[in-house]
Amino acid sequence: MALSEIETGRHRRANRSSVSPDILATRTKRMSASAIREILKVASQPGVISLAGGLPAPESFPVKFMPEVFAGALEKYGSSVFQYGPTEGFPPLRETIATYLSDRGVIATSDQVIITTGSQQTLDAIGKVLISPGDKIAVETPTYLGAISAFNPYEPCYIALESDDDGVIPESLEEVLSEHTVKFVYLIPNFQNPSGRTIPSERRTAIAATAMKHNVIVIEDDPYRSLRYEGYHLPTLWSLAPDNVIYAGTLSKVLSPGMRIGFCVAPSLIRQWMVLAKQGIDLHTSSLDQAVASEYISEGYLKRHLPSIVDLYRPRLKAMLTALENNLPEGFSWSRPEGGMFLWLTGPDELDTEKLYPEAVKNKVAYVPGRYFFTCPGVGNNTMRLNFSNVDEESIARGIELLASLMVEER
Ligand SMILES: Cc1ncc(COP(=O)(O)O)c(C=O)c1O
Repeated sequence: MALSEIETGRHRRANRSSVSPDILATRTKRMSASAIREILKVASQPGVISLAGGLPAPESFPVKFMPEVFAGALEKYGSSVFQYGPTEGFPPLRETIATYLSDRGVIATSDQVIITTGSQQTLDAIGKVLISPGDKIAVETPTYLGAISAFNPYEPCYIALESDDDGVIPESLEEVLSEHTVKFVYLIPNFQNPSGRTIPSERRTAIAATAMKHNVIVIEDDPYRSLRYEGYHLPTLWSLAPDNVIYAGTLSKVLSPGMRIGFCVAPSLIRQWMVLAKQGIDLHTSSLDQAVASEYISEGYLKRHLPSIVDLYRPRLKAMLTALENNLPEGFSWSRPEGGMFLWLTGPDELDTEKLYPEAVKNKVAYVPGRYFFTCPGVGNNTMRLNFSNVDEESIARGIELLASLMVEER
């Protein structure tokens, strides 16, 4: 079965149960992410080298510190870690995150920080409080699939911003904002998912100036900032235009995605509404997990552990770049990120990465076809996202060799 034929959740529900699909709200028409789930399911079959997922390596989790961190949190916060808490977040964690963010030029008081159940919840809450059906939102090309899934139920229209190897082109942003009323602009400035690219300093300045000029809100989604293997940290958009930026971060890549701890700093009106939206979703993020996260950062465990995550991923990125260099002929190009978890491959125009996928899995290697990361249909068919964080160097070399021979054969 071709991937495009994979049933959507709607069809599957309709076919297998007696409940009529008419019961579903109209917004579910925009909620069909099951093709990608299917891709990840086959990618996790035994023996398949999966360059498809977006998971941190299990070895990156600070398991050995955790008994100490949990004990410290329990001693410090006692029974309050088992109690209901404020929707905005566990007060000590809000305090800790405010301090943590100051290193990024995001200067906020603890009252300005909201703790969320992963940054995915931040995106959903933003969608809920800002997007009315038909509202225009501007996104990079390609962009994070999970953001599209979070925003889609609120029925926006997407405007694709022209982007190149350095991310969104500021002139394109200026043009779009001059021509359209845009609710917000969604950007991932560091080691973008899916492309791995980073917006350089001068562009950040231009983007911030354009956002201020048009008085538009920019969502700065920044999960990968700490995973820098080369070069220097660049200024956050928030530090350049604090009144226009919603800064979204997460501990998923530097502590644990399973704990579901995200955070955001937003202009006050939006923040108040996001808190109301979150209250309706889950009342608050797990108190125990927030207490542990606070202890992990405030007692210096993160600072001690982060270099080992960077040292784990740096050679994996290098292995992938070397394997691509060694195995792919002219006509193929790829991004050369200085951090993060992903790399983006573009093949010759005639390459169809979705069509190739079943063959790749049969040959025991998996990736994500790039077209899923575009908001316009028919774009990105010759692209793919490759993950290097959750595969060891040897498997990366083997996986890329397999993939390259398939792509060259297909050609
Ligand atoms: C760009 C981007 N935003 C948000 C998320 C969601 O992260 P979290 O685990 O904090 O919900 C991810 C996860 O991979 C991501 O890549």
